[in-house]
Amino acid sequence: MNSVLKLENINAYYDKSHILFDLNLEVEEGNAVCILGRNGVGKSTTMKTIMGIMNPKNHNRTEGRVFLNGQDIAGLLSYQIAQKGIAYVPQGRHIFPTLSTKENLLIAGKKGVDGSEYWTLEKIYTLFPRLKERENSMGGKLSGGEQQMLAVARGLMQNPKLMLLDEITEGLAPIIVKQLEDIVKELVSRGVTILVAEQSVNFALEVAKKCYILEKGAVVHESMTADLSKETIAHYLGT
Ligand SMILES: Nc1ncnc2c1ncn2[C@@H]1O[C@H](COP(=O)(O)OP(=O)(O)OP(=O)(O)O)[C@@H](O)[C@H]1O
Ligand SMILES: [Mg+2]
Repeated sequence: MNSVLKLENINAYYDKSHILFDLNLEVEEGNAVCILGRNGVGKSTTMKTIMGIMNPKNHNRTEGRVFLNGQDIAGLLSYQIAQKGIAYVPQGRHIFPTLSTKENLLIAGKKGVDGSEYWTLEKIYTLFPRLKERENSMGGKLSGGEQQMLAVARGLMQNPKLMLLDEITEGLAPIIVKQLEDIVKELVSRGVTILVAEQSVNFALEVAKKCYILEKGAVVHESMTADLSKETIAHYLGT
């Protein structure tokens, strides 16, 4: 299988704190891959590294290589990385509170890097009927679950080659988490390649084929999700 994303020997630093240690990770085309780990292990930092946010302008830095479809993108600016077809849904639902649901979606809309226009407003509304119902409501008036759906939907409007979803289940009721699971599974079945960061093992087990467990900024376990043992989960994730 083609590798869409490959991280090689990533080290990341916030100012003088060393956060990621020789991290290697690979996401194959059409796969969903999960980064699991407790609070503060470096999941979001990994996502930020991919997106070029860990840069000297922010007093941060990274070492190592980030390959997107074989091309080294380490050192590019965030907007250049986004333009190469990565949609990033950061932790904590960054939607525009004073724009309507529909406006939030429309301003994100663009053709994919390969010219694809698959994800139209209509298709998004079919996948997220709740967003259609709330299309004229201001982003800030949506519930937490609706905002998270909007954040994911907005990423899709970019017709991305790869989606990065950082803890999209955080703080949501189980029934909403289940809906997000179904949506992510549906995306994978339509060929979208996805990297998720999660604390929810159940979510990872449901949606991801392969998983990496991080501890203190290093990969301590890597396997197919189906092969994750109860002991490994209990040991590293404490559930
Ligand atoms: N802007 C920052 N400046 C300094 N240290 C930071 C910064 N952001 C994160 N850190 C530290 O880096 C480490 C990794 O943080 P990160 O946000 O990547 O963890 P995480 O796995 O995403 O955790 P969570 O599950 O809580 O979101 C933590 O020790 C955190 O305190
Ligand atoms: Mg995080």
